[in-house]
Amino acid sequence: MGQYFENDTSLTSQLRRISFRLFEQEFHFYTDNGVFSKTSIDYGSKLLLESLPLSSIKGKILDVGCGYGTLGIVLAKTLKLPVVMVDVNRRALHLARRNVKENKCSSVEVKESDGYQNIEEKFQTIITNPPIRAGKEVVYRILIGAIEHLEKDGNLFFVIRKEQGAKSTISELEKYYHITVLERKKGFFIIWAKNS
Ligand SMILES: C[S@@+](CC[C@H](N)C(=O)[O-])C[C@H]1O[C@@H](n2cnc3c(N)ncnc32)[C@H](O)[C@@H]1O
Repeated sequence: MGQYFENDTSLTSQLRRISFRLFEQEFHFYTDNGVFSKTSIDYGSKLLLESLPLSSIKGKILDVGCGYGTLGIVLAKTLKLPVVMVDVNRRALHLARRNVKENKCSSVEVKESDGYQNIEEKFQTIITNPPIRAGKEVVYRILIGAIEHLEKDGNLFFVIRKEQGAKSTISELEKYYHITVLERKKGFFIIWAKNS
């Protein structure tokens, strides 16, 4: 079986619809085989959303490795800000486009992109639950590469688990950003990396 970030066209489809409540709103998402966290919202993604300093998020948001769209869609609907969502997994991108409509989000653009490859503009906020299973090189390319796509004083928010190298990742990122640990729960670290 392929990894969730690969485009495995032989994988049969088993469409499901999952729902959850967050920020006093109901969200509905179509998921399928071959995408990350297909049976329910990921614990780390939910903790990341719940830990965000929402009032400091303004301007355009980029969700890197959007999967079926959890982070970008919740933020678009809650903050009513423009969002761009990117991923390499075409099945996830197809679901993300459907979920944008399902949640009646306006101003959300969904694009295929390996990291920032197809991204030219800059953002005030970049958010990611990075693809740990794709390897450290890809994860660092997304986390450190964010600098090139953040406006001055822009913010990168992400989740990483202790066992996935949270502490060494924080040490590496401190070379580039001002780092704040927003939350630490059940081995998950929620990180705010400020472009200073
Ligand atoms: C941990 S999942 C997070 C999915 C979603 N954001 C969420 O919170 O449920 C990481 C996502 O990154 C995507 N991904 C893997 N490699 C990537 C790359 N090089 N560029 C962009 N996205 C990538 C995977 O396909 C997957 O959807």
